[in-house]
Amino acid sequence: MLEGRNVSLKPLEKEDLDWFTQWNNDPAYGGEYEPLEQNSLTDIEKWYTEEASGRWFVIQNKQGDPVGQIMYTEGGLGTTIGYIVHPDYRGKCFCTEAVTIMVDFLFLTKKIVRITAQCNPKNKASVKVLEKNGFTLEGIVRKAMFIRGQYMTSAVYGILREEWGKPRIL
Ligand SMILES: CC(C)(COP(=O)(O)OP(=O)(O)OC[C@H]1O[C@@H](n2cnc3c(N)ncnc32)[C@H](O)[C@@H]1OP(=O)(O)O)[C@@H](O)C(=O)NCCC(=O)NCCS
Repeated sequence: MLEGRNVSLKPLEKEDLDWFTQWNNDPAYGGEYEPLEQNSLTDIEKWYTEEASGRWFVIQNKQGDPVGQIMYTEGGLGTTIGYIVHPDYRGKCFCTEAVTIMVDFLFLTKKIVRITAQCNPKNKASVKVLEKNGFTLEGIVRKAMFIRGQYMTSAVYGILREEWGKPRIL
């Protein structure tokens, strides 16, 4: 468990998959910029076993309740993070702190030179979370993703190891 001041990151476990599936099937959870996927618990259990273990975390508050999720992947643009906070818990700086913890964790545990995040430039909350964590806008990819009936622009943000400098929380 990675402890912050107001939230902690706990590895996603099998016992979380019930609420995790329900939350991720709720269109309000992902909001207008996330894909509108619908997955069965069986699908999610298979995905968890084959792909997710170790890279997906529950964002939880100090009472130990889940408030969202954060993950990283290793892809074409290197180590890339993604996150969602449940609508009931938004606007409390939970995501900002979760990203701070994740960035510390990744730079402290992996020999990587950068961390990437991609978001729709209209997603003001996500842009704010990245800027508050020292990410820089590196480029705009037009028609990058087909989400909810339309092609969406993706803004690529990055933070380099030298820009991070030293741990903020961990
Ligand atoms: C993006 C998201 C994770 C942010 O979570 P959060 O815990 O509410 O974020 P925080 O409270 O740490 O910070 C949000 C910041 O955005 C600001 N913000 C929120 N909505 C905004 C808007 N419409 N316009 C401008 N700023 C906005 C908040 O004021 C806050 O900034 P502040 O601390 O300077 O006041 C959450 O909105 C979410 O889950 N959205 C749906 C899923 C999603 O879009 N994920 C990201 C995909 S790239």
